[in-house]
Amino acid sequence: MYLLVTKTQEIAYIKIFKIIGLNKMTNKLLIAGNWKMNGNKKDISFIKGLSKFISNNKLKNIEVLICPPFTLIDKFSSLTSRSPINIGAQDCSSNDSGAYTGEISASMIKDFNGKYCIIGHSERRIYHNETNNLINNKILQAQEENLRTILCVGETLSDRKNKRTLRVLGNQIKSSLKGKINPNQLDIAYEPVWAIGTGLVPSNYDIEEIHNFIFNKLKKIYGNRAKNIRILYGGSVNSNNISSISSLNNVSGALIGGASLKIGDMKSILKQFI
Ligand code: 13P
Repeated sequence: MYLLVTKTQEIAYIKIFKIIGLNKMTNKLLIAGNWKMNGNKKDISFIKGLSKFISNNKLKNIEVLICPPFTLIDKFSSLTSRSPINIGAQDCSSNDSGAYTGEISASMIKDFNGKYCIIGHSERRIYHNETNNLINNKILQAQEENLRTILCVGETLSDRKNKRTLRVLGNQIKSSLKGKINPNQLDIAYEPVWAIGTGLVPSNYDIEEIHNFIFNKLKKIYGNRAKNIRILYGGSVNSNNISSISSLNNVSGALIGGASLKIGDMKSILKQFI
């Protein structure tokens, strides 16, 4: 893992993966924007512009999702009710209702027509001390309300340097997916913490190797139903790298932070799928 390979070797490895049958899944690719703590009422123009762009251009086999802050879910959902764009949340409570000041439940997200919920983003793990156990309970809550969940996993730079990447990812997956999780309502986002907002991106070889590892983990848990789980890549995705990353085996789309905030950047990304 993390071999130093030349570009030619990298292409050869990717071909070998294809020959040995690690073929692309048949699901639609998911291009998802995670707006984090950005966005105000004035950004209604973004969603209007994106809807217009999508209705004027035929996107091939792509699903588009925007996850704004909670405060914009209602407005964005009503503005996209007749467009193929889905709206989702960036988190939800692990409880269904009650005395939990400041929390937002999965049923509230559903009430505002949110269709997805990102869970376990590294910023929540780091700044809010979220554990795999809590994340597991959040996924169960979200799925209870029929929200499709995107579980985020990823190693820190220190994990990577100490060759702990696969162990960390394996543990995050196993411990976050306990109980009655529905794989048909689940996607995974592989987001190396060191690649988020830094402009650094793993090599295509590394991304493909890790996505294959994640897919095999999911297959052990869910058997053939693992094929319904899309594995997205996230971390410094932009219009220059989206095409090559999304064409890798077991990469079924991207979770995009910074570049999803600007309409121009989003259009440039989506143009690659026309
Ligand atoms: P950037 O695309 O800004 O690196 O953020 C990635 C991310 O955290 C998406 O959830």
